[in-house]
Amino acid sequence: MTEIQKAVARVPVSEGQHPVGVALVGFGYWGPNLARNFAEMTQADLLYVVDRDASARARAAHLYPGTQVVAELAEALADPRVEAVAIATPALSHVALAQIALEAGKHVFVEKPMATTLADARRLLAQAQARGRVLMVGHVFEYNPAVWYIRDAIRRGELGQVYYLYSRRVNLGRVQSDINALWSIAPHDVSIALFLLEQMPETVTCQGAAWLNGRVEDVVFLTLHFPGNVLCHIHTSWLDPSKQREMTIVGSRKMIVYDDVSSEGKIRVYDKGVYRKGDPIYGEYQFKVHTGDILIPRIDMREPLRLELEDFTQAIRAGTRPKADAQDGLRVVAVLEAGQQSLEQGGRPVPVAV
Ligand SMILES: NC(=O)c1ccc[n+]([C@@H]2O[C@H](COP(=O)([O-])OP(=O)(O)OC[C@H]3O[C@@H](n4cnc5c(N)ncnc54)[C@H](O)[C@@H]3O)[C@@H](O)[C@H]2O)c1
Repeated sequence: MTEIQKAVARVPVSEGQHPVGVALVGFGYWGPNLARNFAEMTQADLLYVVDRDASARARAAHLYPGTQVVAELAEALADPRVEAVAIATPALSHVALAQIALEAGKHVFVEKPMATTLADARRLLAQAQARGRVLMVGHVFEYNPAVWYIRDAIRRGELGQVYYLYSRRVNLGRVQSDINALWSIAPHDVSIALFLLEQMPETVTCQGAAWLNGRVEDVVFLTLHFPGNVLCHIHTSWLDPSKQREMTIVGSRKMIVYDDVSSEGKIRVYDKGVYRKGDPIYGEYQFKVHTGDILIPRIDMREPLRLELEDFTQAIRAGTRPKADAQDGLRVVAVLEAGQQSLEQGGRPVPVAV
């Protein structure tokens, strides 16, 4: 069974298992997507929406009249029906809120990045382990059937040896002032790269520039150096003319372009490559270009966010390990932290700490 088949065969709530009582913190831009999914899922019961902002609370109360809408997380934590807390607040608040929720004995789903320092990520992971609670991070692309398709293709050797990959996740807007484009946008691409290559980079180099407020970088160029000279280059920006969400994977036999905003086939498999012919002893090679068909595979899509939240409720009820577990969150933070250090040192290579 491929990853896609396994996920599409969704796990129903077993007899006698009641839905997981959830409190969602943060009802700004992204939180409503989590709320919609929790509200629709038979495996979850959206009991609380928590937001400090009155207009966000008004929106949530209008959309979910059966849900308690409050300003402070403490109110939701005091309710014993709340088993899990989902955190969709700005990145710098993730750790403090997750710690409070874990301390109260709740399971935690935290949006990406799990933390903004590796030391904090380690503390959070240790706290969840000590308390025996699920801690999961919102690496939503690890639940994307298009990304699974690519990983299956790599695993079965269809691309041959993976030489390098690169991604562009750029747009004009959703300008952030608290964290830079590395911490805000690149968690997605880093999690995809680690998921596809199934290993950690050895070193990271990163450069960027802060044009808008002079403090946080609006554009970042991050390169992950994997064992075997496999490179992954990631370009993120909120200061770019057009919205692009594209990743290219170049292998020795085939190449894949994954365009997440394409409406007519997100994946294109190019039967293209360059073959070396000749005498290895004298080093006299000829390079032959092969260009074959382009395949646009049919991919059964389900909303990745739904699959992600189902993985969370299943981990709570069945004790399974979520794909995007806390270890995974920690690995991504380790890469980002090395990237931040490189950025601050003008692009010097920085080893990854885990
Ligand atoms: N998975 C994805 O594709 C994706 C996409 C966008 C954002 N995100 C993540 O979602 C999170 C939220 O991003 P956003 O763009 O929605 O931010 P946002 O600023 O639009 O919304 C955050 C909300 O949290 C509330 N809030 C902040 N601190 C709070 C606290 N201590 N208690 C209660 N409420 C609090 C704010 O009032 C606001 O309404 C971030 O971690 C971001 O990285 C993920």
